[in-house]
Amino acid sequence: MIGKIHKQMSHDSWLFSKMATPEYTPFVFLLLLFQSSVWGVPVCQTPQESPTCGYKSCHATKPGMLNVHLVPHTHDDVGWLKTVDQYFYGDRNDIQHAGVQYILDSVVDQLLKNPDRRFIYVETAFFYRWWKQQTDDMQNTVKQLVNEGRLEFVNGGWCMSDEATTHYSAVIDQMTMGLRFLNDTFGHCGRPRVAWHIDPFGHAREHASMFAQMGYDGFFFGRLDYQDRNRRMVAREQEMLWRASESLTPPMADLFTGILPNGYNPPEGFCWDQSCDDPPIRDDPDLEDYNVDDVVTRFLHIAHGQALVYKTNHIIMTMGSDFQYENANLWYKNLDKLIRYVNQMQSNGSEVNVLYSTPSCYLQELHRANLTWPLKGDDFFPYADSAHDFWTGYFTSRPALKRYERISNSYLQTCKQLEVLGGPISRKGPFGAGDSETLKKAMAVAQHHDAVSGTEKQHVANDYARKLANGWAHCQVLVSNTLSSLSGSSAPRVYCEHLNISVCPLTETSKKFSVNVYNPLARPVSWPVRLPVNGTAYSISDAKGKAVDSQVVPVSQATAAVRQGRGYAVNELLFQVQAPPLGYSTYSVSLLQNGPPSPPSPLPRFLRVTFDPETGLLSSLSNLETQQTVKLSQNFYWYNASDGNNSESIQMSGAYIFRPNTSTPFIISKTAKIETLQNSVVQEVRQWFSPWVSQVVRLYTDSRALELEWTVGPVPIGDDLGKEVISRLDSSINSSGVFYTDSNGREVLQRRKDYRPTWNLRQSEPIAGNYYPINSRAYIKDDKDQLTVVTDRSQGGGSIQDGSLEIMLHRRLLYDDVRGVGEPLNETSDIYPEGLVVRGRHLLSLSPPATAADTHRPLAQEVVLQPLITFTDGELHPSTRLEFSGLQAVLPPAVHLLTVSQWDQDTVLLRLEHQYQASEITHTLLSLGGDPSVWEVNLKPMEIRTFLLRVRQR
Ligand SMILES: *[C@@H]1O[C@H](CO)[C@@H](O)[C@H](O)[C@H]1NC(C)=O
Ligand SMILES: *[C@@H]1O[C@H](CO)[C@@H](O)[C@H](O)[C@H]1NC(C)=O
Ligand SMILES: *[C@@H]1O[C@H](CO)[C@@H](O)[C@H](O)[C@H]1NC(C)=O
Ligand SMILES: *[C@@H]1O[C@H](CO)[C@@H](O)[C@H](O)[C@H]1NC(C)=O
Ligand SMILES: [Zn+2]
Repeated sequence: MIGKIHKQMSHDSWLFSKMATPEYTPFVFLLLLFQSSVWGVPVCQTPQESPTCGYKSCHATKPGMLNVHLVPHTHDDVGWLKTVDQYFYGDRNDIQHAGVQYILDSVVDQLLKNPDRRFIYVETAFFYRWWKQQTDDMQNTVKQLVNEGRLEFVNGGWCMSDEATTHYSAVIDQMTMGLRFLNDTFGHCGRPRVAWHIDPFGHAREHASMFAQMGYDGFFFGRLDYQDRNRRMVAREQEMLWRASESLTPPMADLFTGILPNGYNPPEGFCWDQSCDDPPIRDDPDLEDYNVDDVVTRFLHIAHGQALVYKTNHIIMTMGSDFQYENANLWYKNLDKLIRYVNQMQSNGSEVNVLYSTPSCYLQELHRANLTWPLKGDDFFPYADSAHDFWTGYFTSRPALKRYERISNSYLQTCKQLEVLGGPISRKGPFGAGDSETLKKAMAVAQHHDAVSGTEKQHVANDYARKLANGWAHCQVLVSNTLSSLSGSSAPRVYCEHLNISVCPLTETSKKFSVNVYNPLARPVSWPVRLPVNGTAYSISDAKGKAVDSQVVPVSQATAAVRQGRGYAVNELLFQVQAPPLGYSTYSVSLLQNGPPSPPSPLPRFLRVTFDPETGLLSSLSNLETQQTVKLSQNFYWYNASDGNNSESIQMSGAYIFRPNTSTPFIISKTAKIETLQNSVVQEVRQWFSPWVSQVVRLYTDSRALELEWTVGPVPIGDDLGKEVISRLDSSINSSGVFYTDSNGREVLQRRKDYRPTWNLRQSEPIAGNYYPINSRAYIKDDKDQLTVVTDRSQGGGSIQDGSLEIMLHRRLLYDDVRGVGEPLNETSDIYPEGLVVRGRHLLSLSPPATAADTHRPLAQEVVLQPLITFTDGELHPSTRLEFSGLQAVLPPAVHLLTVSQWDQDTVLLRLEHQYQASEITHTLLSLGGDPSVWEVNLKPMEIRTFLLRVRQR
């Protein structure tokens, strides 16, 4: 397959049409489309003057020569071994010598010394911190450097996001935050043209698709499977066109993609940072150790070698690495000399030309080469850097942080919506000053490739969680202000963040309280609610005063144990709630002395499950609507982690790497002790496998999904072996070695066992080499049946046997895997000193393959954007508005309201998304809008469109 970098595209965000008249076409920034309409006005402006930034600012190259583009850069992790703020200030240099503020100080200083010098900067979270502290003079100086293309921003998100464990909505948010800061601060010249993911541990197709849609001209990265790289080097296919969507019409999701030659490091022998030991260029012939000839010879040798594995007479070299350039003089002084001495050889017939450059200048030359590039359709997972070193452990590492990050995304979306719905009072109201900014920033930082990925040190993981919690606190004030304004009740609002483990002091103690359920989705949704209580009967009425069926069931032993003194309720009150689109509904709950007799228990309407009475395990699942049944069992297992003591390789399992020491997992228990309960709301089978593994299998009367709520931990390590715990489903589905996983929560990719679509795989790790990231769902299918699992966080998983799907839940490891973090992944906390206990949910559905998306798309959406439940104690004032919806009409099922967010004082950002893939639906074009003459939006499968709406204050 071939593809051309040169594409015909009317879209003015595209590089090559843009390059024709780059400075005068209005551009599309981010995913923003500025729709002219009665509600929205175009906001983007054509720049007034035309500074020489961007492609125009590139140094000239020499057509007949091998041109070597030297790219001075620093890779500044937004938290890893130190917290983001420790890295910024250069605190805790005992852990790692790194201080970003000094890097920026020093680089700016050095750029001013020689106008030929170039630098790229990537992580806006750091740049923003630095910028705020600069004087006006310094800010103007930096603007000048940016306007002249001497300092160029690449990537430009708040951080360089992880690709395996992030959800697209959070990635779009963090990119928006960084790009907006750059645009607001530097205008047109601050706009990054190139996406730059030099460190993430494998690459997701959905990231490339998002970058393409954001208008990036190209994408560079450093890490891919070693076998893939070797083949691409030989075939000169390290640069390609990535067609990153099966649904979007080319070239909407096409992105030129290049693999960097040395990861992101300089070539061997050419590291001139203060942290390196390579010899400086000693160019005074009168002094000892003159080495110019040696340096030039070595450099030419490396350049010629590199040219053999790339296609054009341009090659790129990344001159920098982690937190380098703190004393930029060292780098630049030697690079100046390198350029001078290597180019001097041209007068002796050398055909190598070295220049200061940037990734976008290099990209421009590739474009000018007018070549045809290979086409890439799948993704770059999993990533292995050697035969037994698969980076598939971090798909699951730190499962509690991964869940906290995901639920924080839900909370942030709700917070942003309520900021818009509440207006100014949301930020300053009866409950004080609230904001969404704090949580936005905490979420943006959490997307970093050592944050949600779980590959940071423990104290840094704690810092990410603390930042999120602080963001929640700020949002809670905002939410309380808005809900008080919308409902007309300023009764204190109580938040219970531990409902998943039945902890909520208010519901446990109160005889009368109300429950407000806010729905962030653009369609009405019904959810089951479980509240910890001590009473045995309650009467519940909805917003219209109608009685709601409820049930009280005992709190399970597993839940009581996991609470660790944070709650003592003996029962759970269950009922089904409904909330209107982008709105809330309020339920009133009162304790009764004697409950009414239990209504008869209707059978669940959509699904039936059976259990093996001997073992207590699941044995079948049926869809009652479609009359399909599959044999299905489920159980928990663990892999013993390799401790490095192995004949094939000394690699250990760690935060990054998954390496079981045998391919057969150990069963935790062949049987489960079970308790069952059945009432008008739910049927439950509570399974107990061991003191550290239990599960509740729940089937709600009106649900199309079977819920498996697992609780795992503390993972025992008394045998001195690390363990990686999985839940495995074994079904009668004839999946023929194939299963499917989503990419960042959006499009789904096919995975085939021991196979990669673009090279002949030599499989060396039968389990770890078949693991893929699961962000929101995975499925197996045959002609008749599709079994889908929707997850509540990112996890790793695989299908090792036909009909089987395993998902890794928790990992506890005793060794570091020597990829830098320097700690074993051995999580404990104050509450769980014996080892972290983690609880989560898998939602299972069974459907015919052709219609499965109709179940799993909305289901996953309800898990990602879950309702916000808040409480008020006592009786509500009769004037309280019990129900509210921010939408006049429900959006069609295929349309997802991705973002509603206050942009500036009178502008609201709105993103609409078609949430189906082309293969999942029959009608591929959606039109929205009541009166088409006023505002009509067309959405094609998997398309995201963004609008800025000017809002009139009432
Ligand atoms: C970019 O910044 C300019 C001001 O420099 C502003 O007018 C424009 O609205 C901004 N665009 C976006 C998308 O933020
Ligand atoms: C690019 O190459 C094509 C042939 O593949 C040729 O038709 C076209 O004229 C070339 N464009 C330029 C600008 O050289
Ligand atoms: C709920 O009941 C449990 C068990 O009787 C008791 O320990 C706990 O204190 C009660 N909670 C409240 C708030 O009364
Ligand atoms: C793992 O954590 C436990 C509990 O804190 C501790 O006793 C043990 O020494 C730790 N093991 C390693 C290898 O860090
Ligand atoms: Zn990194």
